[in-house]
Amino acid sequence: MSKDGFIIEAQGIHKTYRMGAAQVQVLKGADIAVKRGEFVAIVGASGSGKSTLLHILGALDRPDKGVVRFEGRDLSEMSGGELNEYRNKMIGFVFQFYHLLDELNVLENVILPAMVPAGIIGWLSKRAGVKKRGLELLKAVGLEERATHKPYQLSGGERQRAAIARALVNEPRLLLADEPTGNLDSATGNGILELLERLNRAGQTIVMVTHDERVAKRAGRTITLADGKVK
Ligand SMILES: Nc1ncnc2c1ncn2[C@@H]1O[C@H](COP(=O)(O)OP(=O)(O)OP(=O)(O)O)[C@@H](O)[C@H]1O
Ligand SMILES: [Mg+2]
Repeated sequence: MSKDGFIIEAQGIHKTYRMGAAQVQVLKGADIAVKRGEFVAIVGASGSGKSTLLHILGALDRPDKGVVRFEGRDLSEMSGGELNEYRNKMIGFVFQFYHLLDELNVLENVILPAMVPAGIIGWLSKRAGVKKRGLELLKAVGLEERATHKPYQLSGGERQRAAIARALVNEPRLLLADEPTGNLDSATGNGILELLERLNRAGQTIVMVTHDERVAKRAGRTITLADGKVK
């Protein structure tokens, strides 16, 4: 934890995408700071850089300029191995389009992040515990009957719940969710928001991106991105 009690803070984040001669200046000094236990929504128009900022917080992308600190540690000072561990263990990432693997069943998808760092020997010794945790998570998101189904056999809302279970399998200290309801009808989206609220009440820190003000209202605090900065 940083001395200010922030789990994650980003200061002066700049990001420009260059495609040939064209440049898109997306972030021009964006700042965000989130305390442990908070549920924060990032809103802003399409193209305002919400996903870009979330990817930078999750070390899926790097800023051109600016600092991201997780529990007081500057991500730019972490080694490749430390960054992998950060992405795999500290952070859970939920994508708008789920990114589940159709070759694996639902339970296998959920426990995949727990298998990655284990290696074959580690995996053999951890397998039972990890499977148990995967099944508990599936129960928590209401998918216990679907453990052996393939993702393509699930509805959109069920896939998103599976993706949330996967994001939680390594007990991340921070859950990052990019438009977790963006692809769902409002009743299904509401179920996902109730799940996020329940997780937050149980102590999970969450940063969620949405373009929908009504969705954002479900979070404890909203920050707005416009013109590359937080208003
Ligand atoms: N890899 C990339 N290469 C070039 N331009 C990019 C890339 N990623 C994003 N952009 C551009 O950066 C801008 C911000 O994109 P970003 O995806 O962060 O917006 P957003 O706020 O998440 O929008 P939406 O609500 O539509 O998801 C957009 O103009 C986009 O075209
Ligand atoms: Mg986006």
